[in-house]
Order: sequence, then structure tokens, then C-alpha cells
Amino acid sequence: MYTDPIMQESIKLVEAAREANIRLDPRRMTAEEKDVLLKTYHPDYRVEQFEELKIGPNKGGKVPIELAKLLQGNPRITAAQVDLSKPDYDVDVLVIGGGGAGSSAAIEAHENGANVMIVTKLRIGDANTMMAEGGIQAADKPNDSPAQHYLDAFGGGHFAAQKDLLYKLVTDAPDAIRWLSELGVEFDKAPDGTMITTHGGGTSRKRMHAAKDYSGAEIMRTLRDEVLNRNIPVVDFTSVIELIKDDKGCCAGAVLMNMETKELLVAKAKTVVLATGGAGRLHYQGFPTSNHYGATADGLVLAYRAGARLLYPETLQYHPTGAAFPAQIYGALVTEKVRSLGAMLINAKGEAFMNPLETRDVSAASIIRECSDRGNGIPTPEGFGVWLDTPMIELKHGEGTIEARIPAMMRMFGKHGIDIRKEPILIYPTLHYQNGGVKITDNGQTDIENLFAAGEVVGGIHGRNRLMGNSLLDIIVFGRNAGQQASQKAKEVSVGTLTLSHLDAFKQELKDGGIDTDVASPKLLPDYARRNNTI
Ligand code: FUM
Repeated sequence: MYTDPIMQESIKLVEAAREANIRLDPRRMTAEEKDVLLKTYHPDYRVEQFEELKIGPNKGGKVPIELAKLLQGNPRITAAQVDLSKPDYDVDVLVIGGGGAGSSAAIEAHENGANVMIVTKLRIGDANTMMAEGGIQAADKPNDSPAQHYLDAFGGGHFAAQKDLLYKLVTDAPDAIRWLSELGVEFDKAPDGTMITTHGGGTSRKRMHAAKDYSGAEIMRTLRDEVLNRNIPVVDFTSVIELIKDDKGCCAGAVLMNMETKELLVAKAKTVVLATGGAGRLHYQGFPTSNHYGATADGLVLAYRAGARLLYPETLQYHPTGAAFPAQIYGALVTEKVRSLGAMLINAKGEAFMNPLETRDVSAASIIRECSDRGNGIPTPEGFGVWLDTPMIELKHGEGTIEARIPAMMRMFGKHGIDIRKEPILIYPTLHYQNGGVKITDNGQTDIENLFAAGEVVGGIHGRNRLMGNSLLDIIVFGRNAGQQASQKAKEVSVGTLTLSHLDAFKQELKDGGIDTDVASPKLLPDYARRNNTI
């Protein structure tokens, strides 16, 4: 229901042009056109929004200003505050994070006979995995191959992916689907039992497996059930505020903080898996986000402070289609599946201004250009948006398609009086994913001995841009891998004397780097407190 006269006028143009637009197949941009577009309009190229790190393993490298403040922030504790001599928990494998990657790691570690524990600052399943909508890629159909999947992802990521990591991602993908199916994930299937697969932006084959448009929730439901059925201990509402090392410099546990009482606890572990997720709630450059409430870059801070390098921390993914209207759902994810089902991106004049299945960075930059220099955006209370012409879906595939394939989208907009079967929706890029993160080897090991990492906290798997559906895939492939490797390694580890001496060294680095800050990190939760009491 659009009451704004400008929106109403624009919708008339969209409706008038729909019959013609639906027959169009807007050409793909050339590599040169994409290059100019990205450099001019993509937020990653706004140099004033990045800061050079003065300390740490990535000293001299650039990261978003908001992240620099946290990476160069003060630890929340001093070494003297924590008694490491009597650990509250003593386990083989400590998994930090209760999302898809952490849960997969814990399940595999448990399967390998390890005494494993999950610690999570909210509840198990409160994570970006739960918010994922469109699907999970895997080349498991006769017309496809992992090699084809590799080429799509490598090109989409601007040829910057770590080749060994990407190789593992695509070759382990079919087994990830099998594993999830056997655990109980209900993927969409045709009446003959074969998986229904669709395209995503930048894919040359239909390899997106989905559970309607709540694929992440279905996967997380299944993983959570498996963790709980196995009686893997989950310490919830408890954050990790520092990693602990031993006197040999190996990771050997973590300092935990009860989120309610602020009580400090010590978890000793032979190996640790960092699976803390992303950073959307830092709202880089003031963008809204599709991310979960807990996505505050904690893992990057913990690892960096302990001495682990980050890879591509300056590259972020702005999902092209965040909800731009109404304000109540501003920034919420509108799955790419809406475009793979045939909805086109249309400007205020009713023009289909781009191919809807360009890669995400190109699509986001194109939408930003349309709303800025070209002046073709539709004003909204928060800024601007362009139309995603959802009624095209049923014109192309028949009545009932929207309810059957993207019911969550129908419900989200329906709650606000917008029937996406009959009316287009307004979208604008939203902060969705950190392409960069902690550097790992293909066995999941970080620069710090016995510290493994998996999921969105990791950088380098996708290069400088990720294709849709490769994140749900990477949390499974690299989550499982980290759990297997960490539990195997734990069999041969004997932990030395626990120490937090790296905190003293870090504080000295801050001082030597001339950094005088009142920021405490990790951030743990976003700060949405109202600035005054007038509202
Ligand atoms: O558009 C989406 O459904 C998002 C998928 C992803 O980030 O992989």
C-alpha cells in the first residue's frame, strides 16, 4: 500500500512498461563498464571511509573506520583481573559462536570423539545463518561440475579468492548437501524427488538449493537440533572477550563474560574454533544491515589482538536488494531469489536499467548510481530506492508461484499492507556480508597455533565479492572442516601454562602507536540507545 503521491505516480509508469520490460533481457555489462561502475559508486571505493591500521599484523593496511576503532580498541580486561589457575571449563575443543559454522564444527568434533563445548553470546541459532534466505550452492546436477562452480565464484570474486580455499568449497559442496539432507534439512524438491535448483547472480548453472526463502532458518533448525540431540554443552548468553594462549604461544582457551552478570569465567581448551560471524551491526558508512543483532566483528578483534592476520578486511558486501520501504523493515534482506524468479530492477521512470542477475557488487553499485547521479531513484523516508517488480514473477511462472517459492517475502511485505504479487517493492543496498576476515589455511588453521576459524569471520574464500549461496555453503564446508581438524589436533595437544601476556604486549603496541582511545572491544552488542529522551 503506497500512499505517497510520488510513489503512486512512479508505480503507474512501472505498470505501463511492465509488458514491454518483461520481454527484455538487459545485456550484461562489459568488464570495463563494471570496473568503472564499481570504482565510481561502490562503497568499498570511498577512500575517506577507510583508515590505515597503526598496529598489529595488518599494520599499514586499510579497514573501515568503524572496524579500525575496534581493532585498535582497549581490551575489556587486564591480565591481572583473571585467575587462569582454576579454569571453569576444561575441554578438548572450544567453539566460539552458535551459528551455522560453529554448530557444524561442534557436530563434527563430537563425531570425532572430542569433548566439545559451544559458547555463544546470545542463544544457539541467533546468527546470520538463521537470516539467510535464498539458498546454498552445490554443483550436483549432471549439467554442472565443481570446476564450473569454481570458475563462477573465482570470476565473481574478482580473481582474488584463495585458490585452495575455493577449491575446497566447491569440491566439498555436493557432500555438504548430502550431509544436511541426512541430518534432516527439507530442501525444495520436484515431485520426482530431484532437488529444485535456481540461478543466483553470476552463476552459469542452476545450482542454488533452497528451502523456499527461509533456507538458512531450515538449515539452522536442523543443526541446532543435532547439537542438542548430541547433548553438546552450549553456554549461552556468554561472550568471549579474550583468547587465552599458553606459554608456548598456542591458543589454549578463552576468557568468557556472562552477558547479564558480567561475571568472568575461564575456558581452557586444547584447540579453539572461532565462528563468530560478521559485522553488519557496525553499520559501515551508515548503511542499514540485513545482519543479525550480534554481528559486531568480535572474532576479528579477538583474533587480531592475539596476532592473527586478516585478509581483505576492506571488502564488504552490500546486498543490492535491502528493503527500502516501509521504514519498519528498512535494510531487511529481500532475497536474490526474487530476481532469480524473474523480478526486474526498474527505476522511477519505469525503465529496466540493468540485468537483474549481475553479481552483487555490480548490482549494488548500479542501484546507487541510479539513485544518485542519474536521479532515477524514488524518494523514501530514509533516502531513495528503486523498484523490484515482483508482479513479473507470476506473469512469468503463473499464479501461486510467489506464495510457493518466496512466502517469507510475501509475508514480510504483507504485514505492511504491500501485496508483492500485485505491487512492486522498493529496495536499496544493505550491508550484508564481510568478504574479508581472518586468514586461514585449507585445514582451517589461523596464524595462531591451535586456533581454527570458520564461517563469516574468515576471509579469502570468496575473494573480493561473494556469490549468493556460497556463504551457507562455506559455513557448512569450513565449519565441518574446522571441527574435524580441531578435534584431530586436540588429540596430540598438551596445553602449557595459561597466559594473557599478549594483552600487555597489545597495550604496549597501542602506546607505541600513539593510540589513545576510550573504545573498548570486542563490541559484543550494537549500541542503539536513543541519544536523548525526547522520542
Ligand atoms: O539473497 C539472498 O538470499 C542471500 C543469500 C546469500 O547471501 O548467500
